[in-house]
Amino acid sequence: MAAPKRQIPLDVDEAPASWYNILPDLPEPLPPPLDPDQGPSRVANLPNLLIHACLAQEMSAERWIPIPEELCQLYAQAGRPRPLFRALSLEKALRTPARLYYKSEFFSPTGSHKVNTALAQAYFAREEGFERLTTETGAGQWGTALAYAAALCGLKCTVYWVRAVHRWKAARLGYMQMLGADVHASPSDRTSFGRKLWEQDHDHPGSLGIAISEGLEDAQNDPKAVYSLGSVLNHVLLHQTVIGLETQRQFERAGDYPDVMISCLGGGSNFGGFVLPFVGDVLTKGKKIRFVAAQSQAAPNLQGEYRYDFADHAEMTPLLKMYTLGHTTQMTPIKGDGLRYHGCSPIVSLLRHLGIVDTVAYPVDERYVFERALAFMKTEGFLPAPESAYSICCAIDEAVRCRETGEPKVIAFNISGHGFMDIEGYREVLGMDARERDEPRVSPILGI
Ligand SMILES: Cc1ncc(COP(=O)(O)O)c(C=O)c1O
Repeated sequence: MAAPKRQIPLDVDEAPASWYNILPDLPEPLPPPLDPDQGPSRVANLPNLLIHACLAQEMSAERWIPIPEELCQLYAQAGRPRPLFRALSLEKALRTPARLYYKSEFFSPTGSHKVNTALAQAYFAREEGFERLTTETGAGQWGTALAYAAALCGLKCTVYWVRAVHRWKAARLGYMQMLGADVHASPSDRTSFGRKLWEQDHDHPGSLGIAISEGLEDAQNDPKAVYSLGSVLNHVLLHQTVIGLETQRQFERAGDYPDVMISCLGGGSNFGGFVLPFVGDVLTKGKKIRFVAAQSQAAPNLQGEYRYDFADHAEMTPLLKMYTLGHTTQMTPIKGDGLRYHGCSPIVSLLRHLGIVDTVAYPVDERYVFERALAFMKTEGFLPAPESAYSICCAIDEAVRCRETGEPKVIAFNISGHGFMDIEGYREVLGMDARERDEPRVSPILGI
């Protein structure tokens, strides 16, 4: 028998030509966005907030939505399709009978999967005549991706960046600025909502919910600007399905099929993009896969309540039916701060409600997670983003369970980004002091 291949690539002309929209395949209709009892209609205001093509995709009943040719070219320019790897070295080190595969969203010009929807949104915004994009960012990955996409499409970009992260990621701030973006720590004094919080506390750590409100308010006040969201909404997950569609073809090529699929989850976009085409297989072709979302106990939104809630702090968005911790809840900042969001995307929330998606949340100190990310680094060699470390950690835990039970499960996990600009965060959590010690203060994990 031929030795298993470490890398399963796809050619550029094998890249998906359409996105997969799961809405027509869901077992029950997705609950629609609603208005609160009080105040102006947020639903009626949606066309003033979102890119029109994206709003149309949000509600579309079409299973397949063609990717415009120019956008396919932009995806190719950004390095799509991305390889699927078999983690043979990690498997060996873990002495697991499981077969581990990881999708390499870290091979992205700005470092994460966020480019997949950033390019789409910038492309459609330019087609509709907008000149500027406004947005929020948590980890900084989404802000960088949108700054990159805006630059490629000839648009301006304004980013409101959660202050707790803006504080420590100086390199990523420089990166966004080099791409031409105007970046502000949030809450900022640039919007009336941000100013209220900023005046009470100049050092306010901020949250994604607050930064979203600032981005929305900024765009609302400028007819040449439009707001762009990096996660949660149906159209964002739709654009991200290129990840799962490529992975499906790669599994076909490898002659294998996943039993378990894992990814980290903040608002749900990389998780959704990776698993939704396979959820389609489960719903329409009778396949059996366990889907697990890896989260932080700082924001275990999938363990919250399934109810209508706002997507932003200032209550400018409609109410979305989702698993939520409450849109004004304060959550402890973490190094994987892209996971610190109060709510999960309505699509993934419905799948969780129907028992199709499972979740696990790891301790807030992040040591358990980062130690396992190190085991991955030492064997497979790639440095994951702190958020992606959760995906790796969950996959390793699952592989270790297979060692104990002897089950040769196929475990697929998505690595949503690289951590080249996050070493400071790893250093702090793993106790690596640059002056005193060169090595992380961790004992070998799982013998690695
Ligand atoms: C690398 C990376 N992975 C995952 C996430 C979480 O977002 P989502 O759940 O939308 O994929 C983020 C968010 O900033 C991120 O930067």
